[in-house]
Amino acid sequence: MYNLLKGKRGIIFGALDEKSMAWRIAERVVEEGAQITLSNTAMAIRFGKINELGEKLNAEIIPADATSLEDLENVFKKSVEVLGGKIDFVLHSIGMSMNIRKKLEYPEVNYDFYHKTLDISAISFHKIIQTGYKLGAFNEGVSILALSYIAAQRIFDKYNDMADAKALLESIGRGWGYYLGRELKGRVNVVSQSPTPTTAGSGVEGFDFFYKYSEKMSPLGNADINDLADYCVTLFSDLTRKVTMQTLYHDGGFSSMGMSIDVMDAFVNGFDKE
Ligand SMILES: NC(=O)c1ccc[n+]([C@@H]2O[C@H](COP(=O)([O-])OP(=O)(O)OC[C@H]3O[C@@H](n4cnc5c(N)ncnc54)[C@H](O)[C@@H]3O)[C@@H](O)[C@H]2O)c1
Repeated sequence: MYNLLKGKRGIIFGALDEKSMAWRIAERVVEEGAQITLSNTAMAIRFGKINELGEKLNAEIIPADATSLEDLENVFKKSVEVLGGKIDFVLHSIGMSMNIRKKLEYPEVNYDFYHKTLDISAISFHKIIQTGYKLGAFNEGVSILALSYIAAQRIFDKYNDMADAKALLESIGRGWGYYLGRELKGRVNVVSQSPTPTTAGSGVEGFDFFYKYSEKMSPLGNADINDLADYCVTLFSDLTRKVTMQTLYHDGGFSSMGMSIDVMDAFVNGFDKE
């Protein structure tokens, strides 16, 4: 522990259970001295384990559907109130696709579901930032992060409309990075993470193969949830105050690879052979 976030106030969206990226990131930022609030949908609060996390971290849980401006306004107002000041960092760790859940392939997507995917997984990022900005709830130098996947740039079978949502999410990061940078010296970045076994991740058909393939392709292996939490701490800290408007690949080198000896070997001998 380095006290990198001492005195900072943050809002963490998207912790469902201990497998969630947001869960581990919430634990890490508190270890580094931050005070936080947690938010998720009323349903996730009821059926997930976020209450456990709230108790452990002494963090207030504020329900919100991240597509509702009214709910988000409440999250920011309450957070500023309970944390005792303006917000220094925000994590958007939210994603959902009904097309993936219903196994509708890309050529057959249902357009109501498609709108929902974009609204929940990408436009909510815009809405969160707009809400905090309009309320004047961000401190100067605020650092805002969302989580993406390399399917925003390259096609991964079965990643479906979520790939389009991730492309939009990354673009929204650049868009807001420009405005928040000018107005508040604020930073907005999107971390593109290795496949990670969480509820959302494992919901993508063939997840095990995505996971094994990128593990064998990446010279450092997949970045896990602890690696991600450490990386997010640095991005919320003052040590990275000139990093903004980026898609930051946190993937053990996967995004720069073409072929590795381990993948070649796996094609010959099988992926499960160790
Ligand atoms: N798991 C992976 O392999 C992986 C890789 C790269 C990026 N990501 C991204 O990381 C983020 C977090 O996902 P995770 O893997 O930790 O899974 P997760 O299932 O633990 O988290 C997803 C969260 O989104 C929340 N959510 C869904 N609809 C919402 C709504 N309308 N309003 C507010 N919250 C809502 C869920 O309640 C849940 O807490 C997502 O954006 C995901 O796409 C995941």
